[in-house]
Amino acid sequence: MSLNWTLRAGAAAIVLATAVSAYALDAASVEKARSDYFHSLGKAMKGAGDELKKPEPSMADVKAFAATLDKLAPELATHFPAGSGPDAGIKTEAKADIWSRPADFKKAVDAFTTAAHAYNAAAQTGDAGATRTARMALGKTCGGCHDSFRNEEHHNH
Ligand code: HEC
Repeated sequence: MSLNWTLRAGAAAIVLATAVSAYALDAASVEKARSDYFHSLGKAMKGAGDELKKPEPSMADVKAFAATLDKLAPELATHFPAGSGPDAGIKTEAKADIWSRPADFKKAVDAFTTAAHAYNAAAQTGDAGATRTARMALGKTCGGCHDSFRNEEHHNH
C-alpha cells in the first residue's frame, strides 16, 4: 500500500466522519439551545412588562427589550428540528403535536412573529399605552402556543 493511498483513505474517512456528525441530530444540544432561547424571550418579555407597570416607564428600555424580542422571534421555528421531541429521550416540554400537526404549529409561530413585529413597532413609537396593548396581544400568542404545544405538567416556574 503506498503512502499516498493511505493518506487519501485517511482523508476520505475524516470527510465521512465530519459529514455524519453534521447530520446526526444531537437532541440534547438542541434542547439546551431551545431552553436558552425561550429564557431570552422570557427575559425580554418580562423586562418590558416590569417597566410598563411603572407610571412613568423608561421607553428607551422598553424599546430595547421590544427590539430584542422582534429580532429573536423569527428564530423560534429553527429550534424545533425533527427528532428533538419527547421521543428523543430528552427532558422536554415540547409536545409531539409540533411535528404531527406541522400546519397548526406553523400558524402559532406565524401569529407570534406577526404580533412580535407589531409590538416592536408600537414600542418604537414611544407610546406606552399602545405598547402595553400590543404586548398583551403578543402574550396571548405565547400562551396560545403553550396551550397547544407545550406540556406544562411539570412546569414550576
Ligand atoms: C409557536 C410556539 C411557541 C410560542 C409562540 C412561544 N413558545 Fe414558549 N415554548 C414553546 C414550547 C414548545 C416550549 C417547551 C420547549 C421544551 O421544553 O423543549 C416552550 C417553552 C418556554 C419556556 C420554558 C423554557 C425552559 O426550557 O424552561 C419559556 C420561559 C417560554 N417558552 C416563554 C415564551 C414566551 C415569553 C413567549 C412569547 C414571547 C413564548 N414562549 C412563545 C412554544 C412556544
